[in-house]
Amino acid sequence: MTVNVSDRGPVRLIEMNSPPVNALGAKLRMPLLDAIRAASRDDSAGALLLLSGLKTWCAGADIKEFGLSELPAPEASLNAICDALDTCSKPVIAVVDGVAYGGGLELALACDYRAVSARARFAFPEVNIGLLPGAGGTQRTPRLVGVERALRMCLDGKPVNAGQALEMGLADRLLEDGLTEAACAFAEEMLAAGAPVRKISSGPGKLPRPGEAAEVFDGARQLIARRMRGRDSPELIVQCIEQAVACRDDFRAGLAEERRRFVSCLKNPQSKALSHVFFAERAAARGAGGAAARAVERAAVIGCGTMGGGIAMNFAIAGIPVTVLETGEEALERGLSVIRGNFERSEKSGRIPPGGAERSMALITPTTDYGALDGADFAVEAVYENLDLKKRIFTRLDRALGSDAILASNTSYLDIDRMAEATGRPGQVLGMHFFSPANIMRLVEVIEGRHSSADTVATAFSLASRMKKVPVWSANSNGFIGNRMLSGYMFEAFELLFEGTPPESVDAALRDFGLPMGPFQMIDLVGLDLGWRARELAGKPLEERKPGERLGDALCERERFGQKNGRGIYNYSPGSRVPEPDPGVAGLIEELAEELGYKRGPPAGAEEIVKRCMYPLVNVGSALLEEGVARAASDIDIVYVYGYGFPAWRGGPMHYAEQQGLDGVLEDIRGFHDRFGARWTPAQRLVEAAAAGRGFGEG
Ligand code: 3HC
Repeated sequence: MTVNVSDRGPVRLIEMNSPPVNALGAKLRMPLLDAIRAASRDDSAGALLLLSGLKTWCAGADIKEFGLSELPAPEASLNAICDALDTCSKPVIAVVDGVAYGGGLELALACDYRAVSARARFAFPEVNIGLLPGAGGTQRTPRLVGVERALRMCLDGKPVNAGQALEMGLADRLLEDGLTEAACAFAEEMLAAGAPVRKISSGPGKLPRPGEAAEVFDGARQLIARRMRGRDSPELIVQCIEQAVACRDDFRAGLAEERRRFVSCLKNPQSKALSHVFFAERAAARGAGGAAARAVERAAVIGCGTMGGGIAMNFAIAGIPVTVLETGEEALERGLSVIRGNFERSEKSGRIPPGGAERSMALITPTTDYGALDGADFAVEAVYENLDLKKRIFTRLDRALGSDAILASNTSYLDIDRMAEATGRPGQVLGMHFFSPANIMRLVEVIEGRHSSADTVATAFSLASRMKKVPVWSANSNGFIGNRMLSGYMFEAFELLFEGTPPESVDAALRDFGLPMGPFQMIDLVGLDLGWRARELAGKPLEERKPGERLGDALCERERFGQKNGRGIYNYSPGSRVPEPDPGVAGLIEELAEELGYKRGPPAGAEEIVKRCMYPLVNVGSALLEEGVARAASDIDIVYVYGYGFPAWRGGPMHYAEQQGLDGVLEDIRGFHDRFGARWTPAQRLVEAAAAGRGFGEG
């Protein structure tokens, strides 16, 4: 039974029970509506309690239904349930234990009272899937808590806890443990006091008069422009709440305005793309297979540079004590002070709770001695990319750590099998590739080597989840998923430059596409000198250097290292991150283009720039599927969304290509092949998927 109904004296208990999360799909909606209507008609029921039999109170509408071609019939919709609650003449109390998100919160708002446990959490995460609260959320919330808070909840999608909900008036009563008993007692107390029905819809509540909140709406729009560039639903959310104000004495009129905009969001490809990301993230996390993960109670990190420090922070944030090893005291001290600064900033910005910085620092033990790592059951090596060095470290870790310990490398492209073979425990070696800054970026590529055992892989997945990361499985292959794809993207961006398109045009086109920054801004941010020094150190012959590398060399020889010294591909005024084109660099590009034999032409337009830079991602992504390096196109999308800033509202490169139509994408790739040669050879997997007229997932 998805809904259980029972009576405690005059109190009717209606309990939702639709695992895993009480999503309001048809199979929950119908019996829920019936139970509410029956209780409304039944004279023996004096008050109604709306409860959940699960850990989650209600996760909102069933997102899977949104992919269906037909919307639910109005008589069985979530709005119909909220209506039934709204017109019920008896007090209805939502007894919220766990999360009430989206439509779940709207359900609670259609009740007269909200009694909560300390575990209650309320949020409107619709914005994260390109939607807006579509069952009265944008109309009831500002009436209950005011326009400013309603805007914040609907736009940031973040949860409000029980204490905050009580403080802002979203919840009425905190219930003790023994929730059902406490809720029944609350209902009986209300009945005894003759507590009235109290419909949020019945009046304007905290809504301001039209015009009074203009500044608040302006502020919301400025926030959207800064933080939610390219996305459509945030503006519609603001409009819905504006409509609540405009129709303050006519709830139904505001509701109709909300409905209209909700349906337009549902039809918008952005909501399809964002829902795809929601499910793809969860599918990727299942990539470990069925093996049981081992317990991880103590960890070790080798290297306390940018990556090692960030990884150590992840262990500490997950509550796992971690020993960090460096070659010398000075490097160790430097690394620790960066970690401390990062923790303090995180605490200040509210990313970690008050006192969290101190608690996390206490979990980190610095050392320069491999002997101090004994007792760690999981080690991550995070030193610079040199295979011989990494092999030596793996051999030392193998000697220093207990025989059960798992050894991981944070390499971004090197061969995991070679590192495994430097140990006596190759089955317990794998890659865990974090992305910089490792304490912030959510992606972790989990690299299964030839020898890695199933429980080693499962342990890495479980560890990543404990760190609140998104793990994605990859086979062991140069550059794994993300960096292999990135190299095609960067190569093409440089080609555009040498053919005559200025860097600022390439960057602008890709920013307009939705990336947080273009490729040349990114190189300036990372620093041109890193690659240059590595090439010089390795003695890479000139003829083997790619055109982009040649430009990097030329810029570094002129002491143009990037943002760090205010001069790279662009110039930067002191203290500014705004790139300013430099005519000298334009001249340098032209000279080099001539030397390398490029035929210069007019600058490419935005459409060509986007195709030239995005389609290598799709083509290489297809090759990765064909080779078995990635298991699913949706995994590739997750890598690009969470690791490389690909706009989530476009769903990731593979979803984007599917939305464009794979046959059209293939035709363009064939056109580029004719113009530019072998690097554009279409991947077989793409050819097959396009011919079959299906997406990659079904290929
Ligand atoms: N619809 C359909 N399936 C859902 C769902 C939803 N709203 N919410 C979660 N699920 C599924 C997940 O896909 C997952 O399925 P799987 O086991 O097959 O992978 C399963 O439920 C468990 O989810 P999680 O792995 O995410 O479990 P957690 O315990 O970590 O988190 C949660 C639970 C906090 C509820 C989280 O799943 C979540 O945030 N869900 C999304 C909530 C949301 O976006 N709600 C708004 C929906 S739109 C709406 O309500 C429109 C309305 O305004 C009209």
